[in-house]
Amino acid sequence: MSTVATETDEPRPPAGDDVLLDARGVKVHFPIKRGVIFDKTIGYVYAVDGVDLQIRRGETYGLVGESGCGKSTLGRALLKLEEPTAGSVEFDGTDLAQLDGEPLRRRRQDMQMIFQDPLSSLDPRQTVESLLLEGMEAHGLTQNKGEAQERLRELLAAVGLPPQALRKYPHEFSGGQRQRIGIARALSVNPKLIVADEPVSALDVSVQAQVINLLEQLQDEFDLTYLVVAHDLAVVRHISDTVGVMYLGSIVEEAAADDLYAEPLHPYTKALMSAVPVPDPTVEDRRERILLQGDLPSPANPPSGCRFHTRCPWRQETRCDDERPELRTVQIAGVPESHRVACHWAEDIQAGTIKPHSVEASVTDPSADAPLGDEPGVPASIAEI
Ligand SMILES: Nc1ncnc2c1ncn2[C@@H]1O[C@H](COP(=O)(O)OP(=O)(O)OP(=O)(O)O)[C@@H](O)[C@H]1O
Ligand code: SF4
Ligand SMILES: [Mg+2]
Repeated sequence: MSTVATETDEPRPPAGDDVLLDARGVKVHFPIKRGVIFDKTIGYVYAVDGVDLQIRRGETYGLVGESGCGKSTLGRALLKLEEPTAGSVEFDGTDLAQLDGEPLRRRRQDMQMIFQDPLSSLDPRQTVESLLLEGMEAHGLTQNKGEAQERLRELLAAVGLPPQALRKYPHEFSGGQRQRIGIARALSVNPKLIVADEPVSALDVSVQAQVINLLEQLQDEFDLTYLVVAHDLAVVRHISDTVGVMYLGSIVEEAAADDLYAEPLHPYTKALMSAVPVPDPTVEDRRERILLQGDLPSPANPPSGCRFHTRCPWRQETRCDDERPELRTVQIAGVPESHRVACHWAEDIQAGTIKPHSVEASVTDPSADAPLGDEPGVPASIAEI
């Protein structure tokens, strides 16, 4: 891959030692092709479009956003499972763009993934033992058979499964247990970073908390750093130190989880938060609801300027439509530097000098959407979040 300078690739001081993953100006644009004989590129899906993101050692970074906003693509690009179109990703001091083939494969030992649907990510014909040994073998961790067997038992104990599980097949387990196997598989090679893509969304609500608690417990035990991708704000809140909110390919707000939930500053985050029920009925009755109008625009045809302007109740005549806001620190009393927002008017909105107004539903040009039947930007209502 080539590391391409982008407009978001401004010189920044190198990340400190406490940063495990440092991504700058990452873009992933999927070409839209048409034509039987000549594969003509007729456009792009701007799935990830300029993301700067740093994950500190030992922290959990939660990434939230509507379906189709680019969360999974970003997660994959950070591990170089998807080739970024532009930008750079440094993992533990190594520029991943410089790695390919065997060196990249070796480095992957440190970066593992947990998927939403453990059944489809685990080969149904392999026993749990063979599934766990596979990754260990690939990284030369099974030379001593006795030690490898001991490690298997430790892994199962760590994820709360009995030793007999080793001889069974994935279909013999419940959804929650299968996710435990998926977690054990990721852990088997001693990674530093785990990207968990919707790790509990396929599970029953009663099991979700158990798996989340397990991830937290394993983080301390194995010194892990997590990127947790979820569309459920509650999941992310519970587990994350830092939360990034994604909208149409970029991060629109980032803050320590407590700060973000206490005082969301971006209009999109405000709308997401306002849709989450509050247990206290008095607070629930009194609080402000912001209903988003319109569907998520297609990432094949993103709006100009601020990508949120077609749905933003605070949209202004100047800047919003034609100037893309950077993720920046804001000048608001009590808001720390770590709380960054991509909105030109964040200060005025917070001060109440700009008032929300109704949003006219805007019609997006359907001819500009991806024409191949895949569904970039699957329309998602706020209720899905
Ligand atoms: N290989 C691909 N080729 C073309 N477009 C793709 C490809 N992978 C993803 N996309 C498109 O990129 C956009 C972002 O997809 P992505 O899966 O990253 O979103 P997401 O936020 O993870 O959504 P979800 O919450 O539904 O998992 C979508 O419009 C999707 O259709
Ligand atoms: S920049 Fe404008 S359109 Fe974008 S979030 Fe802020 S007020 Fe809304
Ligand atoms: Mg996804």
